[in-house]
Order: sequence, then C-alpha cells, then structure tokens
Amino acid sequence: MSDSLRGKRALVTGASKGIGLAVAKSLVQAGVQVAICARKDTELRRALQLLNESVPDSKSTGMVADVSKTKDVSDLFSFVDRELGGLDILINNAGLGIFRSTADLTPEEWDSMIATNLSGAFYCSHAALARFKQAGGGFIINISSLAGKNAFAGGSGYNASKFGINGFSEAMMLDHRNDNVRVSYIMPGSVDTDFSGKGTEEKSEWKIAPGDIADLVLHILQMPSRTLISRIEVRPSRPNKN
Ligand SMILES: NC(=O)c1ccc[n+]([C@@H]2O[C@H](COP(=O)([O-])OP(=O)(O)OC[C@H]3O[C@@H](n4cnc5c(N)ncnc54)[C@H](OP(=O)(O)O)[C@@H]3O)[C@@H](O)[C@H]2O)c1
Repeated sequence: MSDSLRGKRALVTGASKGIGLAVAKSLVQAGVQVAICARKDTELRRALQLLNESVPDSKSTGMVADVSKTKDVSDLFSFVDRELGGLDILINNAGLGIFRSTADLTPEEWDSMIATNLSGAFYCSHAALARFKQAGGGFIINISSLAGKNAFAGGSGYNASKFGINGFSEAMMLDHRNDNVRVSYIMPGSVDTDFSGKGTEEKSEWKIAPGDIADLVLHILQMPSRTLISRIEVRPSRPNKN
C-alpha cells in the first residue's frame, strides 16, 4: 500500500455497516482520518468502535445524519469541518432499495429512494465541492450499482435513482475535473451485505465481498493525479444460477 493517502480526510456516508463500513475501515488502515454517518445511533456507535479498534489511535469520528435531509447534511459538514479540519475525499455510499412493481411501489417509497440515493449524493457533493474549492481539489466517489445501467422488474424506483446517480456523476466529473476534483462512480453487482434488510439468510459465498469494493475505492484514490478512473463495473464472477 502506498503512503499517498496518509493524513487525508474522508467522509463516508452510510457507513454503519456493509460497503460503507468496509470502505471506512480500509481508509482508516491506509492512514486516512475518517468521519462516517448513518441514521441509527446504536449501529453508528458500534461501527465507530470497530473502526477505532481496527487501528488504535485512529480516532475515527461520526454523527447521526440522514443524507436525504438538507439540514442534516449541513450539520454533518459543519461537524466534519470541526472534527477533521477539512475534507479531501467524499464517498457517497448511503443508499436503500425497495423492490416492488411500479403499481405496488408507494410514492413515499419512491421518494425515500430518490431522496437518499440521488438527492443525498447531490447535497453531500455540493457541500464537499465548496470545501474542495478552498483546498485546491479532492475526490468524490459515488457508490452506484449495475442497477444504474440494467433495469429489472421490481426495480423502477431503485433503477431510477441509480441511473440518475450515473448521469449526475458523469456531469459533475466534467464540471470539475479541471479544478483538480476527481469524480468516480462504482457500479457493483450483488455484494454480500444486509442491503435493505434482506437479512443474513441471503448471504452467499458467490457474492462480491464488501472489502472488494473497498479495494476498488483505494485503487481509485491512489491513481497518479494525471489519471481519473471515471467509472467501474464489478460483478460476481460466478453468480448464483437460482
Ligand atoms: N449490497 C448490494 O448488493 C449492492 C449492490 C450494488 C450497489 N449497492 C449500493 O451500495 C450502497 C451501500 O449498500 P450496502 O449493501 O452496504 O447496504 P446496507 O448494508 O443496508 O448499508 C446501508 C448503509 O447506509 C445507511 N443509510 C441508509 N439510508 C441512509 C440515509 N438516508 N442517510 C444516511 N445513511 C443512510 C445505513 O444506516 P442507517 O439505516 O442507520 O441509516 C447503512 O449504514 C448503497 O448505495 C447501495 O445501493 C449495494
């Protein structure tokens, strides 16, 4: 592992478990000062304890925040300013999925996916870009999904949010790459997490491990500054045939 990340400051949203927690852990192990957020306090505290045990003296920090709410995002970035003294890396990972046919999906369920998966990434990116402008650059990595390019039955709301974040990421990349801001998005297939309460019974060896996504994040962050990995697709090598 190169030392290029040591001392950088990162915010990972939705990092109390799953992919976000794995990314936060890898960043901490690479010497990055990390702040995390999630909506549930108990799970957030448990994640912070785990991060701080994984690298003693790493002093990871975090607060309860819902990225779909502009006031929470504003408070979160004030917290990051205070606790980390600046920001170099934003990982927009917070996300949820509700899978029903369009007729059965309620407007509230639609709104919650668009508000978290898409608007939340915009709110956080907007706040981060203001800090990157002062700092002279930074990274934004959006955790999208293969559902951002492959539609499926029962996925209308989730597909819309992830197709949206792909377009958002590419436009933001073009807006800001000359400001030394590198924007990337990762489109994973099935990852072995408790995504949207699917529960442990669906955990399977064949799925991508959350740590594999964390490795990709570190790879993006460690490319030479002349080179921008703008998007990555990643999928299980041998998907379950059922
Ligand atoms: N697992 C997969 O197969 C897969 C595949 C492709 C892409 N992804 C994407 O990867 C990302 C992470 O998914 P995961 O599988 O790690 O899911 P997960 O295990 O359910 O974790 C989701 C995390 O996001 C947090 N979160 C949810 N809504 C939030 C909000 N409004 N504000 C702040 N935090 C919020 C959750 O904590 P709280 O509930 O406490 O807020 C939790 O920490 C998502 O964007 C998902 O779409 C997942």
